[in-house]
Amino acid sequence: MSENSPLPHDLDLDRPSGARVHDFLLGGGSNFSSDRELARRVLAVAPDARLDALVNRACLHRVVRTCLDLGIRQFLDVGCGIPTIGTAHQIAQQQAPDARVVYIDSEPLAVTQGELLLEGVPNAAIVQADLRDVDAVLASDRARGLLDPAEPVAVLMFSVLHFVPEHPAEMISRYLDAFPPGSPLGLTHFTADHAPETMRAVADLLSATARSRAELESLLAGLEVLDPGVVPTADWRPDPGDADLSTGTPLSYAALARKP
Ligand SMILES: C[S@@+](CC[C@H](N)C(=O)[O-])C[C@H]1O[C@@H](n2cnc3c(N)ncnc32)[C@H](O)[C@@H]1O
Repeated sequence: MSENSPLPHDLDLDRPSGARVHDFLLGGGSNFSSDRELARRVLAVAPDARLDALVNRACLHRVVRTCLDLGIRQFLDVGCGIPTIGTAHQIAQQQAPDARVVYIDSEPLAVTQGELLLEGVPNAAIVQADLRDVDAVLASDRARGLLDPAEPVAVLMFSVLHFVPEHPAEMISRYLDAFPPGSPLGLTHFTADHAPETMRAVADLLSATARSRAELESLLAGLEVLDPGVVPTADWRPDPGDADLSTGTPLSYAALARKP
């Protein structure tokens, strides 16, 4: 962290946070010794965790661009994390300057850093909220001010639903219920399908829940799952430029589905 960066008053430096561990894995500077210590424990059991974090961000970019190609101009990035290496509004507004993006995260530092990044940026805002409080998220001034519920909204849940142990399907349907048919849901999610012991250890360290492909497919039941379905994150419509990220054992799945 730079000395000039404001620290949120509710930041607990002694307790590692998923957002700050993720930031460290991505090479960011918004993390503290407790976060780095936990990240190093994760890397000790899963040396590919850093690669998975990069693969995950590259997939987010591909999903945002795919949504733009589908005509989507509104995004709700749930569990957006601390801004690093290309955020949803940067990717979306490059291609569609009128795209509107609302970010949600419960981590105070993600919100402070997000607010700094978004200063003076039209059509993008961040809300501090627990994603499970769907009503509060959707009723927030920033979400209501930017998202038109009469038009489709892409709900992005990247690397976050594994931190929701209970009722993940209900979370998905409550968000999509708020938006019209055609609204996409993009997600990535930890899995233990390919490296069971490693991912069980990672899930324990991060208090996360790894889910199988079948479990993720059932979370998406009732939605139109777009090609190529639920696949390892690096294999979701890879760009040639992402080829160097495609090695390693898959630790997560990705999918893009659409409300029929
Ligand atoms: C692993 S990071 C993923 C960040 C980003 N979506 C990405 O894919 O790079 C998970 C993020 O979800 C946030 N998060 C976890 N549980 C949450 C909850 N219940 N409500 C809101 N945000 C949550 C964490 O604070 C963290 O920033």
